[in-house]
Amino acid sequence: MASCYCNPFPSSSHLISTDFFRQFKTPKLLYMDKRRFDGSPRSSKVTSFYGLKTPPYKLDALEPYMSKKTIDMHWGEHHRNFIEGLNKQLEKDDILYGYTLDELVKVTYNNGNPLPEFNNAAEVWNHDFFWESMQPGGGEMPKLGLLQQIEKDFGSFTDFREKFIETALTLFGSGWVWLVLKREERRLAILKTSNAICPVVWDDIPIINLDLWEHAYYLDYKNDRAKYVNVFMDHLVSWDAAMGRLARAEAFVNLGEPKIPVA
Ligand SMILES: [Fe+2]
Repeated sequence: MASCYCNPFPSSSHLISTDFFRQFKTPKLLYMDKRRFDGSPRSSKVTSFYGLKTPPYKLDALEPYMSKKTIDMHWGEHHRNFIEGLNKQLEKDDILYGYTLDELVKVTYNNGNPLPEFNNAAEVWNHDFFWESMQPGGGEMPKLGLLQQIEKDFGSFTDFREKFIETALTLFGSGWVWLVLKREERRLAILKTSNAICPVVWDDIPIINLDLWEHAYYLDYKNDRAKYVNVFMDHLVSWDAAMGRLARAEAFVNLGEPKIPVA
């Protein structure tokens, strides 16, 4: 396993310029190659690539509920492999260069006929989102507007919690469970997706996700998915992150009564 977890890249950035890359004298581990634009009198060359995003806490910060050993393996190996696999695929053909990761996931989903790059792209997206869906001291109850929206759409927080857990436990095989905001229906919903599928391909706005691949919980909980999901809800889920995501989503989805403009 790679021993370096001291990722020098800003966690918010997927596309990183080579100038930034060079100043750290980082080996050619992660890169996404080059694109030349010759439209101006002075040609400029832009090089960018997808980097491994770092969890927003120390790797032992979720103990005892998610061990450092699990995150070392899950983030340091599986997540890293998705990034490296994606960059390797993109090296071969420049038709997909220049997209944000969100765009790349949607484009490679290809209206339900996924391109070969889709699995890696979506798994990078899903894992980036997953690490930020947890926090040390997480769990318990959401607050304020998020709690009100959950109560409005699921009846009560208890009903929501039960439905989230039941959905996770009825997913066959590997995949993800999600709390999403449905744009058209203007309501929260719980979804499960198989393998790498990410709900942004259906234009849903993810609020929380939980990794249900065995690599996410086997070291800590063996094959006891129920225990893992309950621990996630009780001690790990970041309602702070969820509140921020819902607040940002409200820029695109009106969750209140439509306001009639005054002439
Ligand atoms: Fe995973």
